[in-house]
Amino acid sequence: MKKKIVLAGGTGFIGTYLQKQYTEQGYEVLIISRQPHAIHWNNKTEIVNALDGAEILINLAGKSVDCRYNEKNKAEILSSRIDTTNILGEAISQCKQAPELWINSSTATIYRHAEDRPMTESTGEIGSGFSVGIATQWEAAFFKFKYPSTRQVALRIAIVLGDEGGAMRPLKNLVRFGLGGKQGSGKQHFSWVHIEDIKNIIQFIQEHKNMSGIYNCSSPNPSTNKILMKELRKVMHAPFGLATPAWLLTIGAFLIRTETELVLKSRWVLPERLIKSGYTFKHTDLKEALEDLV
Ligand SMILES: NC(=O)c1ccc[n+]([C@@H]2O[C@H](COP(=O)([O-])OP(=O)(O)OC[C@H]3O[C@@H](n4cnc5c(N)ncnc54)[C@H](OP(=O)(O)O)[C@@H]3O)[C@@H](O)[C@H]2O)c1
Repeated sequence: MKKKIVLAGGTGFIGTYLQKQYTEQGYEVLIISRQPHAIHWNNKTEIVNALDGAEILINLAGKSVDCRYNEKNKAEILSSRIDTTNILGEAISQCKQAPELWINSSTATIYRHAEDRPMTESTGEIGSGFSVGIATQWEAAFFKFKYPSTRQVALRIAIVLGDEGGAMRPLKNLVRFGLGGKQGSGKQHFSWVHIEDIKNIIQFIQEHKNMSGIYNCSSPNPSTNKILMKELRKVMHAPFGLATPAWLLTIGAFLIRTETELVLKSRWVLPERLIKSGYTFKHTDLKEALEDLV
């Protein structure tokens, strides 16, 4: 019988990548999502059947934070994470053979704006504000479930670099349109992770049965916004890139219905627990990662 994996919210940027990888490895990949071709969130019986006997459940569901933080969007950003986590948690308790491993996504944005020192799982300080509140409630919803035979891991994921979506798309567009200079002061830290490492990290966690709890999922060499934009201009052969001051970003973000926090927050995160567990990142150098993807 084929090994089974369940990707909840598996139709997005990370999920599509993982689906391809696991299918190539010979897994039966089941998707839970709002799309008609997938198992629907309302179908509790089918969700339990999907999870029963699965090796891993990876939950990636969540409305994109790339939108204006008005009341409607804020409510959906929260409910799309908490409700889906609750549905999965309750479904696991009804399985005859619960999944061995449940990985829930979280975010490196849970830490405070950090320009002074890096944030690790042991020394990092949780921030404040809307996105941090979402992240803390998301993790709390996840860890309130406890099972005898399902290991639980929350991944505090930094900005994922991949060629089929995510942050790379808008960044490349900025460079293409001559706006690939630094954003704001450019001094804000940029913590990133290559999508290939996301897959490798999940596999590493799967193989190392002693691993559970919270892991920062971020390359060991965070950069800054200024260096990110410079390296991206280089790999895209862009002769120049106009800088965008913070005030202009505020207007621009309003016009394109997003929030400046996504580029101005200083995310300085280190993967202390992954390194201590013996995980070796494949992509540690930002320039190399960008060359690989562009
Ligand atoms: N990409 C990053 O850089 C990054 C960084 C840190 C954390 N994360 C987190 O990692 C997860 C996956 O990221 P991603 O980049 O793959 O995100 P994505 O491309 O936006 O995909 C997220 C998935 O969530 C589902 N979704 C959206 N709105 C929903 C709603 N209202 N109710 C239920 N499901 C909903 C969508 O599935 P359907 O539309 O098919 O239902 C979609 O496939 C997200 O939770 C994200 O917050 C991502």
